[in-house]
Formats: sequence, structure tokens, C-alpha cells
Amino acid sequence: MRVLVVGGGAREHALGWKLLQDDPALELISAPGNPGLAELGRCAAIAATDIAAIAALARREDVAFTIVGPEGPLDAGIVDHFRSNGLAVFGPSKAAARIETSKRFAKELMISASVPTASARTFTNVAAANAEAERLGAPVVIKASGLAAGKGVIVATTIGEARDAIASMLEGNAFGEAGHEVLVEEFMSGEEISVFALTDGTHVLPMIAAQDHKRVGDGDTGPNTGGMGAYAPVSIATAGLAAQTVDRVFLPTLSALRASGSTFTGLLYAGLMLTRDGQKVVEFNCRFGDPETEALLPLMASNLIEPMRAIANGDSIAGAPPIDWRAGAAVTTVVAAAGYPGSVDSGDVITLPPAERDVIVFHAGTKRNASGELVTAGGRVLAITALGDSLAAAQKLSASHASRVEFAGRQYRGDIGWRDLARLSAGA
Ligand code: AMP
Ligand code: GLY
Repeated sequence: MRVLVVGGGAREHALGWKLLQDDPALELISAPGNPGLAELGRCAAIAATDIAAIAALARREDVAFTIVGPEGPLDAGIVDHFRSNGLAVFGPSKAAARIETSKRFAKELMISASVPTASARTFTNVAAANAEAERLGAPVVIKASGLAAGKGVIVATTIGEARDAIASMLEGNAFGEAGHEVLVEEFMSGEEISVFALTDGTHVLPMIAAQDHKRVGDGDTGPNTGGMGAYAPVSIATAGLAAQTVDRVFLPTLSALRASGSTFTGLLYAGLMLTRDGQKVVEFNCRFGDPETEALLPLMASNLIEPMRAIANGDSIAGAPPIDWRAGAAVTTVVAAAGYPGSVDSGDVITLPPAERDVIVFHAGTKRNASGELVTAGGRVLAITALGDSLAAAQKLSASHASRVEFAGRQYRGDIGWRDLARLSAGA
């Protein structure tokens, strides 16, 4: 069987890796791919958003189905284009992807479906938005409504900061079109987890929870990034919580999407805040999370190809067996370039440590230079996943492998999983 993966980050590398674990005879093609994916199959030099060229590739190569990794092509309508050309594709339509691409749409949908979330109001007018921020009081959250590469959210600790954020989005064009409508949202306090579910639009196959580490520095300090690491399982995400997430979050959200005429198929990602009043949705994403995917897929014992193929073909997953997980834990440590999440240099030569048992090195921002050397090509360069019998063992192995990756100015967090490790060592 031939499968096409769209994208070229560590998430797509992990997806390709998992498909080949499930079926070593599978023929993997990726577009545009990366040097890690190039070790698993063929890469086509086509941008993930060049929808017509990707569809032509899928047809020419007669792939069984296509998996779309990033949100960009989903927002650009890749799934609609594939379906109208009779091509099987895993991912939501452009209209269903609004669950991620329009925070306003997502919020209104959650309210209509009684899905627990922070209350919020939408504004295009500065004075009205400021008045709402003052009414709620600090801390208060200001969000650009549209897609802003994970950067359009300001958790304002003072009203002054809230005013600045509102002005920068509505007047200063800080996030372009995405920030011309803002949400002023109630602040929630608690711990965050990410829960993914495969869905045919009606039924779900939930995965175990993972925890992302968005801040650049140890102990969750410094600016937000695309994610510096992740681990799974998460001890506070109990089986009871998982069942509640299906009943109170996934099923009502999918049902509201169906009712609105935008059936969601693919992977629905719920970012949850575990507050004192129970779990509340922080955000939805319309695709696999990065770096959570790199931690989750190596722990997944069951086959991923079958449910993905069924969903891509528009079939039901009603009778599909629940996903099985290996014992132990997985920790993913992201190795990033100097300066990340700000601007970074590229082209620095990377030296990888020798391969190690229970360690998988996923490529994110890497490429081959003219002499074939592996060099940096982005902020997040590698995602290093280690498996272990315990979270502590997995963290130690992941951090130790990351410490032996060499390139100019490389940075990583050696504390991925610290919240759970602290809980476990406190005997909680
Ligand atoms: P989002 O892009 O919506 O996931 O927001 C990015 C980050 O901002 C989240 O991961 C949270 O850490 C934080 N955040 C977003 N909304 C809220 C909220 N209502 N209360 C507290 N923190 C929030
Ligand atoms: N890990 C956060 C995201 O994928 O958006």
C-alpha cells in the first residue's frame, strides 16, 4: 500500500514512522517531507499548501490515501479539493477546520453545544474590547480570532497589558487579518493537557492524554513556543477523566459540527485546562499536535493505519477496537536552534549521536546542504523521543540523547515531564 503524508515536520516524520511500524511493506511518500522522512520513503519537493500539485501527485502515484499533517493546507481547502476529485484523504474540510482556524466559530460552537470552556466575547472595536477586559479584570486573555501560528494569544496579567494587546491586534495589525477580530476571554487557572481523538464525524477513538511544554525555559518560564517537548501518559489524566472528555467534549462538539453542516473527520485535538471546576476546553486543533504526536505514536501498540484509512475513505469507525497502549512512558525533547522562538540562523551543521535503543530521532527543521550534510533549517530542529519503563527513565534517556546532539547554539529543556515527576516523587 502507498500512502502520502503532507507536511515536513517532526509530527509528519512520526506519522510516517508509525505507519511503517504497522506495515513495514508500506510505501511512504511525503510532500515536501524532510531528511528524516527521506530515510523512510520518497519526498516530493512540493509545498504543503500547493494543493493542486499535491492532488496531482496523489493521483499519479495512485496512493491508497493521503494524510494531511499541518493546519495550513486544511485551512486552504486541501480536503475539499481531494474529495471533489474522488481522492481519499485524512483530515477535515475547510469548513470543519474552522474549529481551529476561527476562535470565534469554535467558541460559539462550544457554547451552543454546552461544552465547558472559558466565557468570551468577540470584538472588532477597541473601546468595546477594552471595556470588556476591564469588566473581567486581570488576569484576562486576549486572542486573535484567526490562525496566528500559535502566537495570537496574550495572557494579560494587568489591564494595561490587555489594552496593549487589543490595540496591537485591532489597530497595529500585529497578526494581520487574523487579529482584526479579537476575543476577550475569562482567565482559567489549572494544568493543561492535550487529548486527541480519531473521528469519522460521529464516532471517536480517543488517545491517552499528553502534556505539551509551550514555554522555552525550564520550569515553564520564558516566552511561548510551538512546543519544547511532551510526554505521555499523564498521571492526572485518569480513565474517568478520559471518559468524561469523550462524553462532555468530543461527542457534543462533533454533533454540533454535524448539525452545522460541517461534519469533522480526521483528528480532533482538545486542549483542556483541568480547573477546580472540572475540565474546560482552551482550544481545539483540527490536526495532530506537535510535539505531542512524537510522544504518543511510539507508545501506541495498536495499528493506526486501519482507522486512518477508514476515515480517509469516508467509512465508519463504529466497530473499531479501542486503541491499545504500551506500558511505560514516552518523553519527547525538542532540540531547537539558538534564538528560538525568535529569529534563528539556519545552515548550521548537525552532528547526531550514535543511534540508541528506545530512542527515536524525529526531524523537524533540518535539511541536507549541497554537500549532503545534515544542517539546521528552522526553529525546532529535532524531536527526540525516548521510551522507558517509567517517566523518569524515559526523561533521562531523552534528555541525555538531546545533550549529545551537536550544532551551534542548540538548546533544549532537560525537564520535560517535570510536573508529573514532581507529583510522583511527592507520592501524589
Ligand atoms: P491557545 O492558542 O488558545 O491554545 O492558547 C495558547 C495558550 O494560552 C494556552 O495553551 C494556554 O496556556 C493559554 N491560554 C489560552 N486561553 C486561556 C485562558 N482562557 N485562560 C488561561 N490561559 C489560557
Ligand atoms: N502542541 C500544540 C499544537 O500542536 O498546537
